[in-house]
Parts: sequence; structure tokens; C-alpha cells
Amino acid sequence: MLELNQYVELEKLYEANVYAKRPLVIVEGKGATVKDIDGKEYIDCIGGHGVCIVGHSHPKVVEAIANQARRIISCPGILHNDVRAKLLKKLVEITPKELNKVFLSNSGTEAVECAIKLARKHTGKKEIIAMKKGFHGRTMGSLSATWKKKYRIPFEPLIPYFKFSNYNDLESLRKAISKDTAAVIVEPVQGEGGVNIPSNGFLRGVRETCDEKNVLLIMDEVQTGFGRTGELFAFQHWDVTPDILCLAKGIAGGVPMGATLAKKEIMDSLKQGEHASTFGGNPLACAAASAAIDVIINEKLPQKSKADGEYFLARLKDSLEESKIVREIRGIGLMLAVELKVRCSKYVYESLERGVLFLTSGTHIIRMLPPLIITRQQIDKVVNVLAGVLK
Ligand SMILES: Cc1ncc(COP(=O)(O)O)c(C=O)c1O
Repeated sequence: MLELNQYVELEKLYEANVYAKRPLVIVEGKGATVKDIDGKEYIDCIGGHGVCIVGHSHPKVVEAIANQARRIISCPGILHNDVRAKLLKKLVEITPKELNKVFLSNSGTEAVECAIKLARKHTGKKEIIAMKKGFHGRTMGSLSATWKKKYRIPFEPLIPYFKFSNYNDLESLRKAISKDTAAVIVEPVQGEGGVNIPSNGFLRGVRETCDEKNVLLIMDEVQTGFGRTGELFAFQHWDVTPDILCLAKGIAGGVPMGATLAKKEIMDSLKQGEHASTFGGNPLACAAASAAIDVIINEKLPQKSKADGEYFLARLKDSLEESKIVREIRGIGLMLAVELKVRCSKYVYESLERGVLFLTSGTHIIRMLPPLIITRQQIDKVVNVLAGVLK
């Protein structure tokens, strides 16, 4: 086996230099922890950028993948498949009854691309309204709906007819909508933008505005879906149903998958050959997704996320609110953020040395997306480490 530094060097040499890498080589993961090549264990609040809803290598997901790999791994959309059929039924059963058709892909950005195409095709209109501070992915369509200049400017011109409205501001949305607006796209809780939680009437107001103006509502639950915020889907907190729903990240227990769900009349506007994905709906990912969704439902992970999220937030507030460098602590379920008055990278690195991995949003926000199976004992350790480094 090579040494830590040799793996680091190989990645430096051969991989596109697009990630700000932490200096460790992760080789194993179990539950809410990962292990590096030297055997050191970390509590994982990065959670694969929110992917590890059921934890790392959940035994039920591992078993489903192993069994399916022995049966068949690849089966394109032009052929029917048993495992895919069962997953499609499951996805429709766990989402609001209006969302009864599914397109399967391989990532969050693809789930959003499909939603954009659907909105334009179904309405015959061009304009998409996204939210300031929103994030929807890195391919050209979803990037066009993404707010941050750093992500967008190097790749301009992006897709035309994308506009931005202020998050939590219905007046701004009303002004942005025109006769040519096909859809509004919104993350129910903004993730990349820093765990921004909507004010109570906002999403309901967005729904009502869309209905009044005859505009589709796309909800991007790529990061918030599957129990992350304490409900199976975040829109359930505010009792709002989208016309098109984008899912990915935790959907398949860590195996790449995206899904776009829509009302039948909307999905049916895409005709044969107008959209497709080579890997989309492959049986391996479908088997993993079915197993992961069963774990999420059977182990009541959304309820656990709600209770443990409240505990986590309260502990963070108790332990950190006195800190002179903390600006704000916020969260919903197990989607949490500690916003600092200073840059956070130093504290993220110090926490890593003490055995806790944190994600960031921008330069000043420490973000936490731990597996929903994290224990209270692990939460306590995370809080203690953070309190220690921020002291
Ligand atoms: C809300 C949201 N939408 C879309 C994406 C893009 O997902 P992916 O990286 O799987 O393409 C992300 C990724 O972080 C996200 O948080």
C-alpha cells in the first residue's frame, strides 16, 4: 500500500484541480464516521456533501448493491427493469400524490436540468426565476439558475432568460415574473448559500404567486430531501407542494442518482427522444435507492433528524453563543450552520485535527450535514470540538 503523501501526490498530479482538498486520505466509512489511511477516525459532518443520509456503507444498502451487482448492473431506459419499476413506484408513493411521474438521472445538476427543460417545454415560455444566494448545480442550465458570481462568470454567456429574485421577498418575486416566465425555482432551505431558512409565509406565498401568475414551481430538494431537515421533504414543513421536484444526494445511500418528479401532464410534455440519460435508472443505483429509502422510512430518520437537530442546535447555542467570533447559529433538522464574523477555514482545519470534519458555505460559514444516524454522543463531541476551537 502507498503512504498518505503518495496518494495525495497522485491526486495532485492527475486530478483536475477544482477541489480545495483537506490534507487527509479517507479509506473507510461506517455510520457517521470515516477513517483515514492511518486509521484515525473522524465524525463526518460533511457527510459526502449531504449524501450520507443513512450513514456510510449502511449494511442494508451494501447488501442491496452486492445482490444487484450479481444480477445485473446496467439496463438502459429503452428496456424495462424490475428493480427500476419498484423504485419508481416507491418514489411516487413517498411524495405528494400530484407528483406521479419520474425521470431518473445521476446527479443533482441533472435533476435540475430536466426540471428546466420540462418547464420550458410544458409552458412554451422561456424565463426561469431563481433566488439570490441559491445553488442548483454546475452544468450550464443549473449554473444559469445559480446565484454566486464566482461560479458563473468564468463560463458566461450562460443560458439566457434566467432572472434572480430576493429570497424571502415576495414583492421582489412578483416584480420579476413576466408574461414569459415558465417557472420559479427555489430550494426550500438554501444549502450552499449558508443554510438560509425561509420565513414562515415565504414558500406558501411563492406557491400562491405561481398559481396566480400561472407559473410552474420547481423545488430543488437535492440537499434538503430525504429527512435532512426533519421532514421527509422540506416543503412539508410549510405544507406546500411543487409542480416539479428535484432530488439527488441521499436518494441512493451514496450511489449517484438524481430524480425529477412532476405531475403527469407536465412530464408528458417531454416526448420520446427529447430527454434521456445513459446511466439514469440503472439497476445498481435503483437497488441502492430502494434500500436507502426503506432505511429512511423504517428507521424513522426524518423524525430522528428533527429531534436530534433540535438537540444539536440547542447544544451549539449553549456552547457557542458567548463566543465573540460567532455571528449566528441556525439550523433545521440536521442541516446546521455556524456563521462567524471571521473567515472559518482555520477553525475547520483545527477541528479536523481534533477528529471532526466540517463543511463550509462561502468563507465565513461552518456548515454541518451529518448522516442522520449520528448519535447524541457524537453530536456532543462535535459541539465540544467546535467550542474548543472557537474559544
Ligand atoms: C440544492 C442543490 N441543487 C443541486 C445541487 C447539485 O448537485 P450535484 O452536485 O449532485 O450535481 C446541489 C449540490 O450541492 C444542491 O445543494
